[in-house]
Amino acid sequence: KIEAGFFTVFNRQENILENYDHYEERKLSDMHRYFAAEDIRQQMALANNEVIYRVYKKTAPLIAGELEQAVTVINPGQVNGEFFMTKGHYHINEKCSEVFFTLKGEGLLLLQKGQETKWLEMKPDVITYIPAGWGHRTINTSLSEPFVFIAFWPANAGHNYQKSLDEPFGRRVFFYNGSYIVSKVL
Ligand code: F6R
Ligand code: ZN
Repeated sequence: KIEAGFFTVFNRQENILENYDHYEERKLSDMHRYFAAEDIRQQMALANNEVIYRVYKKTAPLIAGELEQAVTVINPGQVNGEFFMTKGHYHINEKCSEVFFTLKGEGLLLLQKGQETKWLEMKPDVITYIPAGWGHRTINTSLSEPFVFIAFWPANAGHNYQKSLDEPFGRRVFFYNGSYIVSKVL
C-alpha cells in the first residue's frame, strides 16, 4: 500500500535517499554490453566488478497522472577510459518526458532521438529537461566524486533498455587530457 502523501530526504553525507522502498544496483557485469570496451572481461577482473550506479526509489502508483521519483548515484570511474554511466533508456510511452535536478558532482545528460544526439552539462542546481520521445543516459565526468541527481517522470512511462543497445547513442564520453571528451560513435 502506497502512502497518500509522503516525503523523502536525500542524505548528502551518505549519498542515499532516506526511507527509500528499494534500490537497483548496476555492476559492471550487468552492463558489459553498454560500454565500448572489448576486453570487458579483463576490465571486470581488474575493476573487481564494481558498482557503477545505484537508483533509490520511493514508489508511487504506476498509473497515468502519478509521478515517479528516484535518486541516481553514479560512482566515479572508467571502463577502458569510458566514464561510468547509466544504461540509458527510452520511455515505452513516447509521450512521457522527464526532469532531472542535479544534487551533487558533475556529469552529462546525453539525449538521443533517431540520428540526433544532444548533450547537456549537469552540476548542482542545474535542472535538465528530457523531452518526450528522447532516449537518455547520464555520465559521471568527475574523476573523484559521485554524480547524484533526482529524476521525476510520469508513472505510466515504462522503460525500454533494449533500444539503447539496438540503436546505440551517437556519442560516448571518454577521459581525455584531465577532463572529458564527447566522441562521435562511428
Ligand atoms: C527514470 C530515469 C532515471 C533512470 C536512472 C538510471 O525514467 O530516467 O531514474 O532510471 O538514472 O538509469 P537507467 O534507467 O538508464 O539505468
Ligand atoms: Zn527515464
